[in-house]
Amino acid sequence: MKLVIASGNPGKLREFGELLAPLGWEAVAQDALGVPECSETHCSFVENALEKARHASRCTGLPALADDSGLCVRALGGAPGVHSARYAQTSPSEAKDDEKNNAKLVAELAGFTAPADRRARYVCVLVFVRRADDPQPIIAEGEWEGVIADAPRGTGGFGYDPWFFLPELGRTAAELSPEEKNRRSHRGQALRRLAERLRTLAEAEYDGDGAPG
Ligand code: IMP
Repeated sequence: MKLVIASGNPGKLREFGELLAPLGWEAVAQDALGVPECSETHCSFVENALEKARHASRCTGLPALADDSGLCVRALGGAPGVHSARYAQTSPSEAKDDEKNNAKLVAELAGFTAPADRRARYVCVLVFVRRADDPQPIIAEGEWEGVIADAPRGTGGFGYDPWFFLPELGRTAAELSPEEKNRRSHRGQALRRLAERLRTLAEAEYDGDGAPG
């Protein structure tokens, strides 16, 4: 069974491919099938992921898997949220820049010193559709709680990881090995939940009208 992955990120393509292969799915990147990038205009992770998955399926006629993720900070009312990748961007043509995003996050939190205000969570939503108009998409979420640190630490991970402090470990996400991060992270949790749902999918065959058949 072939499935299109609605992402151009090589790291995600590898992770998704590894997850899907044992379940009998052959994952193909949307770029390889000529799928144009889809805009992410919604205000929730699930809506963005759903739109990306439906778009990739519509363009290819294949089942599709998409994800959307970001960092939500309590004192900032959930920002940067769905805008995490482009938080510091001032025009649509400007490239994504992790360093600038982190500088903006730190500046926005300057007046907040209490750990409770600096509480944050990473969120990841994965959406799988059997076809573009699938009435029952499979949705898997993961959340990872932390605190925005006073100073960056560590060189691993990417994005906001050097600032994402895990009080129970006494380390930031950038100080974890890839395995340690995958075991705990929002993306790792969502992937494991999705894998569980896909494992049972073959048992619940659909007859095309959305009703179990
Ligand atoms: P997207 O899911 O590729 O749209 O990524 C959203 C953005 O959220 C990334 O560019 C990062 O800024 C942030 N983000 C999501 N997951 C992580 C993570 O595990 N570590 C650090 N930043 C993340």
